[in-house]
Amino acid sequence: GFTRNFSNSVSLNAIKTVTVVGGGLMGSGIAQVAAQAGQNVTIVDLKPELLEKAQKSIQNNLNRVARKVHKDDPSKIESFVKEASERIKVSTNIEDGANVDLVVEAIVEKLDVKQELFNKLDKLCPEHTILASNTSSISINEIGAGIKRKDRFGGLHFFNPVPVMRLLEVIKGDHISEETYQAMMSWGKSIGKTCITCKDTPGFVVNRLLGPYSAEAMRMYERGDASKEDIDIGMKLGASYPMGPLELADYTGLDTNKFVLQVLYEKTKHPVFKPIPLLDKLVAEGKLGIKTGEGIYKYKK
Ligand code: 3HC
Repeated sequence: GFTRNFSNSVSLNAIKTVTVVGGGLMGSGIAQVAAQAGQNVTIVDLKPELLEKAQKSIQNNLNRVARKVHKDDPSKIESFVKEASERIKVSTNIEDGANVDLVVEAIVEKLDVKQELFNKLDKLCPEHTILASNTSSISINEIGAGIKRKDRFGGLHFFNPVPVMRLLEVIKGDHISEETYQAMMSWGKSIGKTCITCKDTPGFVVNRLLGPYSAEAMRMYERGDASKEDIDIGMKLGASYPMGPLELADYTGLDTNKFVLQVLYEKTKHPVFKPIPLLDKLVAEGKLGIKTGEGIYKYKK
């Protein structure tokens, strides 16, 4: 039984080697949690400078995790970081990352670019390799439209910051096999995440619900109903969210927010997802949030 006693059984389909395509914030987080869990990871990105940056940020975040895990025995911190780091290789060549059990794509949110990558991976990877996308909102079925292994393909959607957020959304494409789905669920568990499952529906579970919340917060601020600070304090102290909606939008990136809302509007036509002038203006001005030093709030560089 592949589906029974999952955590105790060593399955032939267990995922042990992973390639993450895309060395940005999400990609490096995914690589980190897999390496922490003892897996061998290859990060592939076209830009060598991004790979260098990814390795540095992984090193920093591994230290944060190590200090927490080994707070009673600090002598173990160094080896924890060293061992996890050594499990991560980087390459600018996708072929170096093809021969693995799982490939997770975390590149730019552009359908045609993702499709091209998956078509290439479909040809390069061995028969058994499972392919997955970390897209925040693009349709999984559309991303995989051109591949042959549709039974070994799905969505694995992580949340920022990946090493801290406990959730993983496992998205079932229309043609995913039960075996692939179970392998994805079990992999998610093995890297310490709690998995939820959903269909290939716009925004999946979390972004479908965060979208209207975040959009209404921005409209409230835009109308001047309350100050940005009070909107954020309201939701932190009145609903126990760790961050207020406007802080969270700056944290996630206003470009990402705009993109998610755009996709949700295209797919659902629900008016709550309609473009927000304030958001459009900030994005047009390059004020994308924390990463650019200014978004809804200003940040010290
Ligand atoms: N790597 C490793 N550890 C990290 C980390 C990182 N990148 N960032 C924070 N941490 C750790 C810290 O070391 C700290 O650990 P400790 O409590 O043991 O000391 C802990 O996380 C808390 O961090 P801080 O004390 O620095 O700050 P906060 O308590 O304010 O927590 C936060 C920061 C975890 C980001 C929290 O504010 C939070 O949960 N915010 C909401 C995040 C959220 O909603 N994310 C989802 C966005 S939507 C998304 O990603 C989907 C996409 O498709 C758009």
